[in-house]
Amino acid sequence: MNSVLEELATEYTAALRDYLDGRGEIALQQAYDVGRKTLAKGLGVLDMATIQHRALVKCLLKAHTPREGSQTLRAVKKFFVESLLPFEMSHRRIQEVNVALRESERRYRDLVENARDVIYTLSTDGTIRSLNPAFEAMTGWSGADWLGQEFGRLIHPDDLPRAAALFQAVLHGQAPPTFELRIRSLSGSYIPGEFVATSQTQGGRVVGVLGIARDITDRKRAEEALLHLNEALEAEVGRIAHALHDEAGQLLASVHIVLADIARELPSHASRRLQEVRGLLDKIEEQLRHLSHELRPTILDDLGLGPALEFLADGVSRRTGLLISVEGSPDKRLPAATETALYRIVQEVLTNVTKHAQATRVRIRFQRDGRLLRCSIRDNGVGFDVLAATTRRGSRGLGLLGIQERLNAAGGTLNIHSAPGSGTELVITTPAEA
Ligand SMILES: Nc1ncnc2c1ncn2[C@@H]1O[C@H](COP(=O)(O)OP(=O)(O)O)[C@@H](O)[C@H]1O
Ligand SMILES: [Mg+2]
Repeated sequence: MNSVLEELATEYTAALRDYLDGRGEIALQQAYDVGRKTLAKGLGVLDMATIQHRALVKCLLKAHTPREGSQTLRAVKKFFVESLLPFEMSHRRIQEVNVALRESERRYRDLVENARDVIYTLSTDGTIRSLNPAFEAMTGWSGADWLGQEFGRLIHPDDLPRAAALFQAVLHGQAPPTFELRIRSLSGSYIPGEFVATSQTQGGRVVGVLGIARDITDRKRAEEALLHLNEALEAEVGRIAHALHDEAGQLLASVHIVLADIARELPSHASRRLQEVRGLLDKIEEQLRHLSHELRPTILDDLGLGPALEFLADGVSRRTGLLISVEGSPDKRLPAATETALYRIVQEVLTNVTKHAQATRVRIRFQRDGRLLRCSIRDNGVGFDVLAATTRRGSRGLGLLGIQERLNAAGGTLNIHSAPGSGTELVITTPAEA
């Protein structure tokens, strides 16, 4: 018997003697305390039995008659049970905790099993450790066949270098919030997937990666459809611009010729009046030309966004009296679709300023930030409640929504800062490279 046990046995024996001497509750409380101490020292029920046995032998040796002996035995039983109570209670607690743990595990498993997104874990060497049933639904592969395999074998070869870099970044806790990778399916086709992933740690050490992958085929299709729709719209706008410029232009030219003929036949004072009319016609022609260029500026294709926006700003200024400045135009040419999108967006924003803002100035500013292009358009007008304007159902204009959708298609973002009375700023960021 080690010294700890020895000490506890001595305390227990003394208490048991007190109990046999009739000290009742106080002695029972001591039995309970010895039990509690034994448990706290990390000893078990068997040690308690050893202690009890020791004490019992000592007390029985003191019994003078068999009758006294059996009395002692009966009394000792109650005392022993009292000393075991702490063990019993702790056992019950463990059971309760186990039940709760099992319940929470079951809930977690249900969640993982029934999730529509793929939930997976990887080891630090990039092999697959677990996959939920959504994996099979999404890719057609059996999840079990992929356990222990390299996750890279499921990724499109062109995405692989990026996937590997992202995996390392996740292990180091520094990956972007979401990323897209193409996943190989059983049929051989690739599924566009949106991923979120985080490192798994155990005792402060990274032991793997936990991730969620979502099938974004539908979203990709919608984005593509939107892109085609935008292209079709551009073609339509081009047609209208052409009609405005060429056909209306030719009609005006014919009117000029007829008027010149009439002028020759009129007395000179009437012909002077006619001259005024021809001056007005020239102005209309000039405005038509400008409008048609704004609609589909060849300048955008030929010289790029900066000059095209200068041209647009100039036209809007002349029509509305707004002072518009364009600063720091993007130094390099952007992908054609991005240039068109940005041009259309600035066009809509300037229309909004004209219609709603009662502003006197607009400042358009470009900033290149690595691979991103930032464009801020700020007016000094009345401002508006952005949340109310963008969540208003039914009556809501298509302008801001259209801007948002064009940006989605181009992989950009929109932020609007505005409050009634303090002007409006739209901040747009788009990737500056294809
Ligand atoms: N620069 C601005 N200044 C003040 N209000 C604005 C500005 N831009 C947008 N708004 C407000 O936001 C609303 C939504 O704009 P938009 O989606 O373009 O629709 P629409 O121009 O057809 O009304 C506008 O009706 C207007 O109340
Ligand atoms: Mg609008």
